Amino acid sequence: MGQLDGKVVLLTGAARGMGASHARRLVAEGAKVVMGDVLEGEGKALAEELGEAARFVRHDVGSEEDWDGAIAAARGFGRLDGLVNNAGVLQNARLKDETHEAFERLLRINLHGTWWGLRKALPLLREAGGGSIVNVSSQAAMKSYPGLSSYSTSKWAVRGLTKVAAQEFGPDGIRVNSIHPGGIEETGMFGSSGASEEIIAQRKALIPLRRFGSKKDVSDVVVFLLSDASSYLSGVELPIDGGSIV
Ligand SMILES: NC(=O)c1ccc[n+]([C@@H]2O[C@H](COP(=O)([O-])OP(=O)(O)OC[C@H]3O[C@@H](n4cnc5c(N)ncnc54)[C@H](O)[C@@H]3O)[C@@H](O)[C@H]2O)c1
Repeated sequence: MGQLDGKVVLLTGAARGMGASHARRLVAEGAKVVMGDVLEGEGKALAEELGEAARFVRHDVGSEEDWDGAIAAARGFGRLDGLVNNAGVLQNARLKDETHEAFERLLRINLHGTWWGLRKALPLLREAGGGSIVNVSSQAAMKSYPGLSSYSTSKWAVRGLTKVAAQEFGPDGIRVNSIHPGGIEETGMFGSSGASEEIIAQRKALIPLRRFGSKKDVSDVVVFLLSDASSYLSGVELPIDGGSIV
């Protein structure tokens, strides 16, 4: 028996990185998954590999129209029990150097995308009698990192939005939690950080568990938060960072 048998989950940013890991794991746990992403080739290929339990939709999380398409795909599975707001992008720039255009572009995906997701999923989750929303924030929403001005802003905002949504959606049986990964290896984002091997080794030495996280580490927590095993958890912010935030 899977931990998510019978549940339908909408997952954003599902084509690669952690999203692809979550998609595989959700299907393995018995869920039906609507996989959204802007990377059509990778997303479609993974959905095909996963079979009838997975459907890919081209879904830019900053677009209201695309959200309507993703929600319609969930309706095609008959219901919606969970949403994982995973899509995100990173931008390395000091506050003094970043253009306003770049700041807005990042917020449109990381923050507005989550905001749309919360609003668009609500009616179907209500219809299902409740559900679970997992917002992917970051360790960068728990402490400050110079050079990540727009990224940190977006992830701190997602942390706050999660709390408000947990309060507002709770009476409908909808739980809303945020997760805060530290450095997670083998993701597009980790690979694009631009850090030298020396810097990476220094960062690793500061993690109490002395290793970066794996995609599986995060998928395990996502499954838990979507499952009935976490049925009394809402408004929680969960670091997945080897003990770095203490
Ligand atoms: N990798 C890390 O170390 C790390 C740490 C903390 C938090 N996170 C967060 O985890 C989430 C997943 O990131 P990842 O590390 O797997 O990175 P990734 O770059 O491998 O995957 C991100 C996915 O989001 C998709 N995406 C980008 N813009 C989109 C848009 N407008 N609409 C829909 N999809 C879009 C990408 O195409 C990609 O498939 C992100 O929210 C990220 O901020 C990552």
